[in-house]
Amino acid sequence: MRIIESISEMQQQSETWRREGKRIVLVPTMGFFHEGHLSLMRAVRNQGDILVISIFVNPTQFGPSEDFERYPRDLERDLRLAREVGVDVAFVPATSEMYPEGYQTFVEVTEITRSLCGKSRPNFFRGVTTVVLKLFLIVKPHAAIFGEKDFQQLATIRRMVQDLNMDVEILGHPTVREGDGLAMSSRNTYLSPEQRLKALGLSRSLQEAQTLVDRGERHAAMILDRVRETLGEGGDVRIDYVELRNPLTFEEVSEINGPTLLALAVFVGAARLIDNCILRIPSHD
Ligand code: PAJ
Repeated sequence: MRIIESISEMQQQSETWRREGKRIVLVPTMGFFHEGHLSLMRAVRNQGDILVISIFVNPTQFGPSEDFERYPRDLERDLRLAREVGVDVAFVPATSEMYPEGYQTFVEVTEITRSLCGKSRPNFFRGVTTVVLKLFLIVKPHAAIFGEKDFQQLATIRRMVQDLNMDVEILGHPTVREGDGLAMSSRNTYLSPEQRLKALGLSRSLQEAQTLVDRGERHAAMILDRVRETLGEGGDVRIDYVELRNPLTFEEVSEINGPTLLALAVFVGAARLIDNCILRIPSHD
């Protein structure tokens, strides 16, 4: 596995591969790998000729009071795991290379980023779309893959690619969970053992919501009440949002009439955890 730190070296290498007719697939990450990241890499390992991952903790997607400084990092371990999975190139740029002095250009998806994480983390999606666009211009991938755990992020990137006519295929990957249901996240390392138990409320509440829909419940308010109850706000647990929205338009939903996004963000101690599912009405055949 080759490690490339320089933007121009990465661009030249990708240009050469493209001229040779090679298909490049990219997995953008902020590192501190868990099984979620690795399964994204495995999912596309055979979908192209060259598998590139990027490891870059992107400062522009963190708010001033967020965890950029203490975001977990372990580059050596990440590189070892990536090598084991069969990654060809790890692109690991320095912050000063991605955002040199005088940097002032951003790309923004304006509508579907207003709600959910976009509401509680202003500038977050602007930072994500900007860095992903930069990574696409540097790595020149034919395809890139993102996790459905960050459902709004995936939808926002799809929107950007469509709106700006970018020639990159965007692939989604289902959320990878621990055995007990907790969605894998680099931020799970912030949890104490007791907090980790409380964090199980996130995935449990999603399952319960689907069970309610299976039993015929269609009122959003009833479902949201149950989710809040299961999350058990109080003490270490503080709900940021719990919402039901149309998975394409992100408009709020008051009745379940078709596939509906149930999205939640919850602070458990110092960790802000997110999870989501698509609630589906059972078919009668
Ligand atoms: P990061 O949180 O490191 O996640 C990298 C990729 O892994 C994202 O596409 C994310 O959705 C996916 N992922 C994380 N946990 C997952 C899980 N449990 N199951 C499935 N996929 C999972 O998301 C980012 O980095 C950044 O915002 C980035 C897109 C790299 C831009 O900086």
